[in-house]
Amino acid sequence: MKLIRYTNGDNMPALGLGTWKSAPGEVYNAVVTAIKSGYRHIDCAPVYGNEKEIGQAISDCVANRIVTREELWITSKLWNTAHQKNEVLPALKATLDDLKLEYLDLYLIHWPVALKEGAGFPLKASNFYSLEEVPLTETWKGMEDTVKAGLVRHIGVSNFGPEHLQVILKSAEIAPEMNQVECHPYFQQDTLLNFCREHNIFLTAYSPLGSYDRSEAFKASNEPKLLDDPVIAHIANTKEVSPAQILISWALHRGISVIPKSVHAGRIAQNFAAEEIHLSDEDMKSIAALDRNFRYVTGTFWTPPGSPYTLNSLWR
Ligand code: A2P
Repeated sequence: MKLIRYTNGDNMPALGLGTWKSAPGEVYNAVVTAIKSGYRHIDCAPVYGNEKEIGQAISDCVANRIVTREELWITSKLWNTAHQKNEVLPALKATLDDLKLEYLDLYLIHWPVALKEGAGFPLKASNFYSLEEVPLTETWKGMEDTVKAGLVRHIGVSNFGPEHLQVILKSAEIAPEMNQVECHPYFQQDTLLNFCREHNIFLTAYSPLGSYDRSEAFKASNEPKLLDDPVIAHIANTKEVSPAQILISWALHRGISVIPKSVHAGRIAQNFAAEEIHLSDEDMKSIAALDRNFRYVTGTFWTPPGSPYTLNSLWR
């Protein structure tokens, strides 16, 4: 199993199961199947609306001695409506309750965007706090409190660019150790990856397969289909594996953590087996040439008319 080794010696399995878009009613079986297939890393978030069912799956696997809690790496995320310092610990406790866990291995600020309590999609201008009203440094202090309380082993962020990371790095008592962002051959994130490496921050790739199961409301009509890419298909054919496996293997070859989502047993097992695939330097070069700076998750839902956030301010 490929591992990401943290400075304190903790090991995070690089390949995890994504649970964004895994519906209640499907995610229980997905998590149990994944753990039985060998996955030891599950990526969660309260906004995915399925943490209770994931918690049941984990606790049943532990009770049935399929795995121990210590063998698992569980990540969750702080939702945008709890960015004020004193809201972080209660939000974490609600997630721990839902996941039926005593601690998280990794807790991330989900977005560099602060929302008022009760804000739901589609958002209006009045739902937002600006980052001047609720600074990321304040949210980070709350994140540090979760570590000090012994409820979280590692903290980090998600959807942060270098400027937002700098804000935290400058004032942090406990440095961020992870940035989870969209990353795949059409959006390779070389600049951000280099920045993170210079600052000892690991990267986790979300939407590694292109997330075609996203809500139609947020899809561009002409978006390119990563799983149908001819270069990926060619490499997959020569190795007699699937395009999804090549996409997962590519992330692992770059030393990045990757969290493909599936709710189907065959694909869950197939995605896990991608760890065994070897990509040559030539394969890596052909895939590097596919970069087209294309985001599937554009973040436009944070920029309704009158929002204090713009796409430029979001991704910087
Ligand atoms: P499903 O959950 O029905 O298996 P991402 O991880 O980029 O968000 O992509 C998730 C999407 O990719 C889902 O639609 C998921 O479908 C699909 N998917 C997951 N694994 C595979 C695979 N091995 N082959 C093809 N599609 C896959």
